Parts: sequence; structure tokens; C-alpha cells
Amino acid sequence: MVAADSAARAQALRAQLEAHNHSYYVLDAPQVLDAEYDRLFQELQALEADYPELLTSDSPTQRVGGKALETLLPVAHRVPMLSIRTETDIEDSGAVKFDTYVRSELGLDQSAPPVEYTAELKFDGLAINLRYEQGVLVQAATRGDGETGEDVTANVRTIRVIPLRLHGEVPDVPDVIEVRGEIYINRSDFEAMNETQRAAGEKLFVNPRNAAAGCIRQLDSRITARRPLSFFAYGTGETTGWILPARHSDVLDTFAAWGFPVNTDRAVVLGADGLIAYHRRIGETRNALAFDIDGVVYKVNSIALQRQLGFRSREPRWAVAHKYPAQEALTEVIDIEVQVGRTGAITPVARLKPVFVGGVTVTNATLHNEDEVRRKDIHIGDTVVVRRAGDVIPEVVRAIVERRPPGAREFVMPVTCPSCSSAVQRDEDEAVARCSAGLYCPAQRKQALLHFASRRALDIEGLGEKIVDQLVDSSMVRTPADLFQLDVASLAALERMGDKAAANLVEAIEHCRDTTLARFIYGLGIRNVGESTARDLAAHFRGLDALMAADELLLQQVSDVGPVVAQSVAAFFAEQHNRQVIAELVAAGIQFAPIAAPEKPAPGVTGKTFVLTGTLPTLSRDEAKARIEAKGGKVSGSVSKKTHYVVAGEEAGSKLIKAQELGVTVLDESALFALLTQVGT
Ligand code: IVH
Repeated sequence: MVAADSAARAQALRAQLEAHNHSYYVLDAPQVLDAEYDRLFQELQALEADYPELLTSDSPTQRVGGKALETLLPVAHRVPMLSIRTETDIEDSGAVKFDTYVRSELGLDQSAPPVEYTAELKFDGLAINLRYEQGVLVQAATRGDGETGEDVTANVRTIRVIPLRLHGEVPDVPDVIEVRGEIYINRSDFEAMNETQRAAGEKLFVNPRNAAAGCIRQLDSRITARRPLSFFAYGTGETTGWILPARHSDVLDTFAAWGFPVNTDRAVVLGADGLIAYHRRIGETRNALAFDIDGVVYKVNSIALQRQLGFRSREPRWAVAHKYPAQEALTEVIDIEVQVGRTGAITPVARLKPVFVGGVTVTNATLHNEDEVRRKDIHIGDTVVVRRAGDVIPEVVRAIVERRPPGAREFVMPVTCPSCSSAVQRDEDEAVARCSAGLYCPAQRKQALLHFASRRALDIEGLGEKIVDQLVDSSMVRTPADLFQLDVASLAALERMGDKAAANLVEAIEHCRDTTLARFIYGLGIRNVGESTARDLAAHFRGLDALMAADELLLQQVSDVGPVVAQSVAAFFAEQHNRQVIAELVAAGIQFAPIAAPEKPAPGVTGKTFVLTGTLPTLSRDEAKARIEAKGGKVSGSVSKKTHYVVAGEEAGSKLIKAQELGVTVLDESALFALLTQVGT
């Protein structure tokens, strides 16, 4: 016989563990450390081992999976799982059509107020029906053909976000409730999962949806337990003993209160305008979601109106899916060519059979480097998944190896540069292969010129790819300095170049002479020197001569410049050819705007770390920070042993306490002023 206190303890542990599960997986706000969770879990496991009669189907210990099945058994749905009509109109008209249809079916004339809708994401996963009796999960079934699905209860129990027992007291939960929703996998989890498959030499999943379906239809639930499956609730099947709320949005809120994950991007909106705004907003933020969606779903919010509208040919009249353009598509790799970049990097590019994806026709996609081609195992002739998400450049995600044709060829990195035939080199610790010819290579020269003229560098408007190609190919221009020798007549002779455009370009080149040192340094295209490093170098050296004369040690004194950058900069200026071009540019009249003199450093501030807390009487946070930095101090967000001063104002909180604990000097605003204005001794 089980002692009453053991039974009570087991029940308490189950409740506690499930509450922790919910906080961790659904609310994303863990309440306990893993070690504490494990301790409770092991205690429950031990109790269940001692008293098997205490083991219940809703015990969290059952989430690890059990004995493998022979087959999945059929389940007849008590309420059929229908699908919904799809509006493929990419633009707003899909929303307008649906609202117009609903209004006409309901017999609403123009003067009637707008219809209220719930708008939700359309998750791209697999539909599932979860049946709870007396609050306990008793069965999970796939959609199947809508009438009959498959019993996947053992697998679904392993999904941590799905409650095994509804939160709340039994009198509050219905006798029977079927909650419907979508099982899905987050993109990052999917990528990691495929990476594991790849490492193990196993077959890759094509996309998160197929992977989710595969994991759910597993015969061995211990395998499912290791898969990163997730779930969102969005609808109802059979219910008994439940007074349905008045609105669909209330149903969703109730689901959340019972412990189900309900996506928070849902919204209650009014009329076609509300639907359009929702469709646009989600369309714009779609890429930031952790998972794939293929559209949004609009549902008439009032359950009474849903009943009135009813169904037509097995689809509800009260709901519609409004799609977005697909972000992934299958196509073929016709060839893999290489491109030469500004720093000589040789990049393989896949030439693709044109495919419409993410709203545009894609014909090429970068493959980044040789290792990437090997890692993704992409052959010429392969069928591949191409992804274009929003404005992100299209990429080849993976090859469908099972569809590889017999004639498929592997990519071979060329040993000579396709532009100048010089040797291609690849350092052992680098992923990138490079043409060794530097600026003697026409392809690199073109890229260097385009970079010099780009908006954040010298900003020469009108100097685009087509013109640079012609200028370099005809040897009219070899270096950026040559640009300043161009005249209207010779430019006008180029293809696609009229007198007007030629005059404008000469004018733009003329104009770019007045620039800043930072833009100029950036425009030189020194390896590892981006815009922000260029700015740091300019602020530190304040002139071209000082920068060109600096050795690696001096360069490393610049904030944020380490050995790698210092080496690149020193190597660039050591090159006679580069010094020559710079001399020509200076001779052509390039000049830099003066740089303001730095403030005199204050000895008590330079090199010291400050933390600001509370409200100061006159200075705002940003002002105080700017003044400290102008005098060579640093401002950090948290107090540690390395903090020199804490500047505290009114309502200073935990940072002040921490400072006192650590014995850090605390200043008020006037003491800060004194420190800032102090001059050397
Ligand atoms: S409601 C009777 N809401 O899209 C209405 N479906 O054909 C039932 N889906 O197979 C569906 N997200 O798997 C609904 N927020 C959402 C959804 C959603 C994805 C799937 C569902 C169904 C298909 C609709």
C-alpha cells in the first residue's frame, strides 16, 4: 500500500515540475536552476519506481519517450479537421475580398459598423488535435485526411511546451476539450538538427515543416523526445462541459491560461483596414520571427457570427489564409562560377535556373567560399533549396542529394585568377582563396575603384559598374588617381554615356576632392579597415603623413586596433605602388576637412572607468558620459572591482550599494565637475 503522504508528495512534485516546465519552455522565464529541477525530477522518478501505482500518464517523467511502436494507429476525428480557403493575392486585395465576402454573407450594408476579426500567424508546420479528458492529455492525433488521422500521443507527450494536464482546477476545465494547433520547429533549431544529421552522415531534412512531420510520425518516441519540437494553439475540436467564450480571441486567451503556448503576434482588428495593416506589419517583420510562416489567418472574432456563417464545401466561411510569397524554392544549379572581389577574394557563385522566390526571380546566389560548397555538398547539376528572406541576398541552403543526376560535377576552385591568370592562393588558416596579383588584376582594380567611389567613401555619384568596366578595360583608368585626369570629351565617348552624363560625372569627381580623412582612409580599401576603424585612425593620427609613417606598434595604440589591423595598415602603406597612388591623389588636390583639436585630458579622468547611476542635478546621462569620454575616461554600465568612480545622483539604486560594498569612490555631480576641470600637477 502506498502511504498517503507519498501519493501527496508525488502529486505535488508533478505539479511543481510542470509549472517549471511551463515557465521555462512556454513563458521563456525559468523559475529555478537546472540542478533544482533535476533534483525534483529524480525524486519523482524514485517515488514512481518504488510505487508504480503512483505513475500517471500526465507525469513529467513520461516526457522522455517510451517503447517503440510497430505502426501508428488510426484515429477518427470526432469533429473533422478542416482546412481553410487561401487568398494568394500578395497585395491588400486578399484582405478586402475576405471582408467584403463576410459582410455580404452576413447581410451587412455599408452603414453597419466594421466586423471584428482575430488575425493570427499562419504557422508552417503540421496540424495536431490534442484531446484532454478531465484536464488530462489522453490523445494526440495528426490531421490525416481531415476525417482520420494517426495516433501520435506518445510522441506528443515528449513536447515540453504541451501541457500534460491543463492548468487550473478540475471544476474549471471542461470534461472534454480538443485543442488544435500547429507543431513546428524553430529555424535555428532546425539548422542545428540538420548539422547533427550531416555530421552523422544521415539524410538532411528539406525544411522545418518536413522535419516536424517526420519527428511527429516517428515510431520511437525516445527519438522524438530529442527533437526540438514546438507548438502553438489556435483552434478547438470537440468539447463537452465547456461554455464557449463569446469571441475567438477569448478562446485563445483561455488556452494561454490553461498553459498552452499561444503566439503573441495575434491581434484583434476591425474591418478590412485592420486586416490590411496586420498583413503589412507581419510581412515586414516576418524575417525576425524564429520560425517559418507562410501567411496570416483572418478569423471572424464573434463565435455567434462564426456559427451564422457556417461552412461551404468543407471550409469555414469565417476564416481565410492570406499568403506571403514563398521564401524557399527548389531549382537547379546550372554552373558554379567564380567572382573576384576588391581584396582579390575569389568567391564561387551558383548560376541557377531562374526561380521565383521571396517575390523576385533569382538567377545567382553566392556560395561564399570553397569550404562552404563542400560543407553544403553542392554539385553542378544538383537540385537545391534556394532561400530569399526579405532583403537578405539569396542563398543556396542545401542540395537535395537524393535527386543528384548521374552527370553532376563537383566544384573545383581554379588555380589561376579568371580575370588576370595570376596564381590563386589560399592561406592555411583562411577560408578565402585570393588572386595574388593585387591591383594589377583588372577585376580587383575595378572593385577598388567602385569602393573608392562608393557613398561612404569619396561618394562619386554616377561612377557605376558599367562605366568602371569600360574605364578599366580601355586602360583609361588604372588607379583612383587617374579619375582626376578624365575629361568630358573622353567620357562622352563611352557606351551609354551622353555629354550630359559625362559632364555630371566630371563635376562629381571634381566635387569629391573636398572630403574627410576618415572617408579617404576608408576609400583606400585597406584590408580589415572598415568605416569605424578608418574613423578611429583619422581621429588618432589627424593627418595622412602621420598615419603613413606609423609602424605596427604605434598603430596598436589606436583604440580598437589590434595586431591584425595594424599589420594590414602597415603592409598597405609599405607598398610602393600604394604610396605612389596616394601621392598622385594629393597632387590632384584631395583635401581633408580640419579635425577639431581634442580637449586637454584631465589627469584624474584619463584611463579611468566611471559608472553613472541615479539622476544628476544638471547633467543628463548622455552629457555626463560625453564629458567623461572627452577627457579620456570610460563609462561602463555595471560596477565591479575595476570601476574607479561611481557618480551617483538622486534615487541611485543597486549600483550605489554595490559601490559601497566594494569600496569604490562615490562622487556627486560637483565632485565630478572638479575632477573634469582639474589640470595636471
Ligand atoms: S485555423 C477551420 N489558424 O493552416 C480552421 N490554421 O488550412 C482551422 N494553420 O492545416 C485552421 N496556422 O494546420 C488555423 N493560426 C492558424 C494556423 C492554421 C497554421 C494551418 C493548419 C491548417 C492550415 C489551414
